[in-house]
Amino acid sequence: MSPLLILTTILAVFISTSIADPDPIQDFCVGIPAPTNSPAYTGFPCKPESNVTSDDFYFTGLAATVKTYNRFGTNVSVANVDTFPGLNTMGLSISRIEHAPGGLNPPHTHPRATEMVHVIEGRILIGFVSTARRFYSKVLNDGDTFVIPRGMVHFEYNVGGDTARVMTAFNSQLPGVEAAAPSLFGTDPEIPDFVLTKSLQVDVGVIRLLKSKFQNQN
Ligand SMILES: *[C@@H]1O[C@H](CO)[C@@H](O)[C@H](O)[C@H]1NC(C)=O
Ligand SMILES: *[C@@H]1O[C@H](CO)[C@@H](O)[C@H](O)[C@H]1NC(C)=O
Repeated sequence: MSPLLILTTILAVFISTSIADPDPIQDFCVGIPAPTNSPAYTGFPCKPESNVTSDDFYFTGLAATVKTYNRFGTNVSVANVDTFPGLNTMGLSISRIEHAPGGLNPPHTHPRATEMVHVIEGRILIGFVSTARRFYSKVLNDGDTFVIPRGMVHFEYNVGGDTARVMTAFNSQLPGVEAAAPSLFGTDPEIPDFVLTKSLQVDVGVIRLLKSKFQNQN
C-alpha cells in the first residue's frame, strides 16, 4: 500500500466511525412510518409539507408517570423516531426513565448515540465501561448530569430511598439498545451452549440457567 492509500484508508475509517445521524437537507421531514421502511440510518420518507401540522412537532408520550412493577423496577418511555415521527432527520431523541428504589436499568449499549443523563429527582449510581475495561461511575443527585460515550456498556441503579426520575438525551433519532445479558442469553435463535460455555468458562448448567432467565424476556 502506498502511504497516501494508507492515510486515505485511516481517514475513511475514522470518519465512518465518528459520524452520527446524517445532517438534515431540508427544514424537516416528518416521517411516514410504514412496516416496509427501514428506520435506522435511512430514515422514513417525508410527509408532504402541505399535510404537516403543529401536532407533528408535539409529543405527549413522556408526560405520564409509568409503572415500575417489573423485575428490574425501572420503566423507560422513549421519544424517538418510532414513537415521534417528527424527529425524522433531526438527529436526536430523548427518554424519560422512572426507577423505583433499587430499580436498575441493566447493562446495555446504544450503538448509534452518545447519551446525556440528567437527574430530575432522586439519587442514582451510574457507570460505564471503556474499551480499556476501565469502569467510570458516579452517584448523581437532583439536577446532576452525566455523559455516556457512544457505544459504551452502561447502567443506572436507584440508590436513593424514593423514586428517581431521569431524562436522557441522545444524538440519534434512533439510538438503538443492545442489552448485555439478553444479547448473550436471550437471542433468537439461541447462541449455541458450546460457544457460551467456552466464552464464559463455565459449565453448561450455568448457561442453561442464564438462558432460562432471558429467553422470551427483556
Ligand atoms: C395528505 O393529505 C391529503 C388530504 O387530506 C390526504 O388525502 C393524503 O392521504 C395525505 N397524505 C399523507 C402522506 O399523509
Ligand atoms: C411501563 O409503564 C407503562 C404505563 O404504566 C406500562 O403499560 C408498561 O407495561 C410498563 N412497562 C414495564 C416494563 O413495566
